[in-house]
Amino acid sequence: MIVERNAPLQPHNSFGIVARAQQMVRIESEDDVHAVLADARWQGVPKFVLGGGSNIVLTGDVKALVLKVEIRGRRLVEETPRAWIVEAGAGEVWHDTVRWLLEQGWPGLENMALIPGTVGGAPVQNIGAYGVELQDRFESLDGIDLATGRPFTLDAAQCAFGYRDSVFKHVAAGPNDFGLAGRALITRVRLRLPRPWKPELGYLDLARRMAETGIAEPTPMQIFDWVCAIRSAKLPDWRVLGNAGSFFKNPTVTPEQCADIIARDPKIVHYPMPDGTVKLAAGWLIDACGWKGKSVGNAGVYEKQALVLVNRGGRAHPATGGEVMTLAKAIQTSVYERFGIRLEPEPVVV
Ligand code: EPU
Repeated sequence: MIVERNAPLQPHNSFGIVARAQQMVRIESEDDVHAVLADARWQGVPKFVLGGGSNIVLTGDVKALVLKVEIRGRRLVEETPRAWIVEAGAGEVWHDTVRWLLEQGWPGLENMALIPGTVGGAPVQNIGAYGVELQDRFESLDGIDLATGRPFTLDAAQCAFGYRDSVFKHVAAGPNDFGLAGRALITRVRLRLPRPWKPELGYLDLARRMAETGIAEPTPMQIFDWVCAIRSAKLPDWRVLGNAGSFFKNPTVTPEQCADIIARDPKIVHYPMPDGTVKLAAGWLIDACGWKGKSVGNAGVYEKQALVLVNRGGRAHPATGGEVMTLAKAIQTSVYERFGIRLEPEPVVV
């Protein structure tokens, strides 16, 4: 097992922030995880699981042992009249997997094209876009509990998926509490792609594409192309302009709170939810506070989508994690002062 010391993490986080891992090990198989856990050097040493690094803000060097997940492999495990079940290694690139599945004739993930990160990161925050979330296409996953060394398999209910949320984002506070944050290493994910395939075209941007192109019955590949075009127009490519996607979750409020805000700001973008709450567009709230294009040091608010914070300094003079967090806190304060709403960051702050 090769231990990389003082390993640069700039190539491994989509913000392009400069930080180092005191020690980093690449995990290519379940055996690699067991070898780390059995190694006397790392008994009791905190471990940090790193996937694609597309949802993290590094605020300093990482002292924990970094386990960089690079488990590969993709295969059809089951085909029934109701679904294709496909398994992918946690280290596979999410977008490449979406494209590969389409090429194999197993559609269903096209609405989630171009989401950065790895297959193993997808369930952690229940990634979603354009009307489809991971939980809608999820069968089960395998992982290893880093605290006990025990392998586990979880189904969707056990993953406790919510909006950008799962069991992997919660710390268990007591013996009867659930939560695997900081102790689970996801090794493989099985996706359930329903048959017959049905397009998901409810999202406004996709409905617009249908009207523009006159294509009433798009193929999965056409939807994939549309989603790629919509995302590219709105969201920066992290290879060109570092970012971690949406920096805040869209908040939910009660209908009364929403009515109160509408009375003051009639244009507020809001969506009634099935449970009676109302979801607000965090991007709109931030935009309304005048943040688009503003900066703190080399951390900035993207001009085309206020929900995305970007690294304006490139690879040579990148924003620091501190600048990103100072900017994020200033945004939270101004949105709270104007709307009384506390925005919750989406990425993990390390
Ligand atoms: N808006 C503004 N100003 C802005 C940004 C947005 O007025 O600066 C308005 C838009 O005009 C629109 C509304 O806010 O009416 C919502 O914007 P958009 O459709 O771009 O979606 P979003 O709510 O900002 C969410 C997800 C994205 C996902 C898209 C599409 C969250 C936190 N973000 O963004 O996910 O791609 O919907 O489904 O839920 C991610 O999580 O990293 C991510 C990119």
